[in-house]
Amino acid sequence: MKFSISTLSPEQLKLDTLVLNIFEGDQNLSPRVAQIDQALDSVISQGLKNGEIKAKLFESTLIYTFGKITPKKVLVLGSGKSSEFDSAKLTKLAAFAGRTLAKKGITQAGLCISTPKPDLREMSLMVEGLLTGVFDPAIYVSKKEDVKDLSDVVFNLDVPTSEKVEAEITNGVQVGECINWARRLVAEPANILTPQRVVEEAKSLATEFDLEIEVLDEKQAREKGMGAFCAIASGSDEPSFMVKLAYHGAKSPKKSVLGLVGKGVTFDSGGISIKPSDKMEEMKMDMAGAATVLSAMRLVAMTKPNIDVVGVMPITENLPSGKSVRPGDVVKAMNGKTIEVINTDAEGRVVLADALLWSQEMGITHLIDLATLTGAVISALGYEVSGVMGNNQEWLNKIIEHANKAGEKMWQLPSFDLYKELLKSSIADYANVPSSRQAGSIAGAMFLSEFVAPGIPWVHIDIGGTAWLNSEKPYMAKGPTGVGLKTISSLINEVATN
Ligand code: BES
Ligand code: ZN
Ligand code: ZN
Repeated sequence: MKFSISTLSPEQLKLDTLVLNIFEGDQNLSPRVAQIDQALDSVISQGLKNGEIKAKLFESTLIYTFGKITPKKVLVLGSGKSSEFDSAKLTKLAAFAGRTLAKKGITQAGLCISTPKPDLREMSLMVEGLLTGVFDPAIYVSKKEDVKDLSDVVFNLDVPTSEKVEAEITNGVQVGECINWARRLVAEPANILTPQRVVEEAKSLATEFDLEIEVLDEKQAREKGMGAFCAIASGSDEPSFMVKLAYHGAKSPKKSVLGLVGKGVTFDSGGISIKPSDKMEEMKMDMAGAATVLSAMRLVAMTKPNIDVVGVMPITENLPSGKSVRPGDVVKAMNGKTIEVINTDAEGRVVLADALLWSQEMGITHLIDLATLTGAVISALGYEVSGVMGNNQEWLNKIIEHANKAGEKMWQLPSFDLYKELLKSSIADYANVPSSRQAGSIAGAMFLSEFVAPGIPWVHIDIGGTAWLNSEKPYMAKGPTGVGLKTISSLINEVATN
C-alpha cells in the first residue's frame, strides 16, 4: 500500500473514492464534509435528516458523484458519538475503511478523516489501521486475476507534508506490517509452519536486522537441563527448538533489559490427554505468543529504540505418540524442580517453565510472557480481553496502562497465595493442573510464577481468548489478531525515551 499526502481541496482530488467521516448527533458537518455535501446537492445532510444515515460507528454509505466533484465516489463512514471517539476507535475506523474499500475492489482512495482533537500522531494510527484492516488470512485461496488490492491511499490534509508527517506514516507502516507479519505466522497451518520453519523465520530476522540469535535443539536443551520443555517436545516427530533473539539498543548500560517470552506450540492436539476434534484445527494458533514476540523483535530491530530486548520462545508441537509424555509422568525443569504432568494438554506452562528460567539467565530486569495458555480465560473474560497476572503490581499497572493506551484490553486476575494449593502434587514439587476444574487461568499463572525469581517484575498475559477472532469484525478479518504487539510497542517507547 502506497501512502501520500495532498492538500488540495477534497473535491479536486484525482482519485476513485474519497472517504469522509461523520459523527452521530453532531449538529454541524465538519468544514470539509460540508464542502463535499454542498457540491453533491446536500446528499449527505439529506440522508442524515431522513435518518438513512445515522453516523453510527462502522456504518458506511457509498455515494456516486456523477462528475459533480473529481472523485468518482464518496464513502461516508459513521464514527459514532464524537464524545466517545478515541485513538483506538480511530485505528478501527481506518481499518474499517480499508476493509470496506478492499471488499469493493477499490484500489485508490483519498482519506479525509476528521477527529474531535486533531493531532499529527493520528496519521500513524490511520496507516496502521488501513494495513491491519485489509489483511486477509485466506493465504492459500487461489487469487482471481481481476481482484486488485487497495494500493494507493492519499491523506487529505490541511497542512503540507513535513518530516513529522512522513515519520508518522513510516511508524504506522512499521507497526501495521509487524502486526500483519505476526498474524500471517499464526494463520499458517501447522504442516507448513513447523517448529523448524519458525526457527528459519527467526534466523532470517536475525540476519536481516542484525539481531543476536541462539537456537537450542532438543539435545542441547536437554543438556541444559530443560527436561520440562523436552518432555513435551518428545511426542512430535518434528524437531523442536528453544529460541533466543536479542536486540541491543540501550545507549547507557544502566537501562532496563526487557525479557519477552512467547509460547510457541505450533500445534496443540492436547497430546495423550487429547482434545476433542471440534475446533482442534484452531490449535495451529497456539504459537501466537511466540509470533507476537518475534514481531516485537522485528519492530525494535526496525525502529531501533534505546533499550535492550531479549525474546525467548519454546517452539514445539504437542502431539500424541509412543514417545509422548504420559499423564502421571514426572519431569524436571532447568532449576531442578519436578513437575507431575497430570494433563498433557496443559503443555504451555510446562514448556514455558524452562523458557522463563532460561530468559532469566540473560540479565533481564523485567519480564513479560505472552501465551495462549488457557481456554478458561475465555470463560472468564471472553474473546476481546486478555487476562493478566504477575508478581509485581507496579509492573502490572504499567502493562495495563500501555494496553489501555494501545487499545488492547487487558484485565487483571488475582494471584493470591491461596491459589498455590492448586499446584500441589503427591509425588513432585508441582502438578501442572489442579486436581479439579477451578480457577483455570489463575492456576496456569501460579504455575508459571514458580519459575520466575521474585526479584524480577513479571507479567503473564493470557491471550487464549484474544489471539484468534472467531467471527469477522467490521475492522478485522476472522482469524489471527496479532494481539499484544501494540501494548509492547507502547511500553518499549516509554522505557526507551525515559
Ligand atoms: N492451548 C491451550 C489453551 C487454549 C484453548 C487456548 C482454547 C485458546 C483456545 C492450552 O494448551 C490448553 O489446552 N489448556 C487447557 C488446560 C487444562 C488442561 C487445565 C485448557 O485450557 O483446557
Ligand atoms: Zn494444551
Ligand atoms: Zn496449548
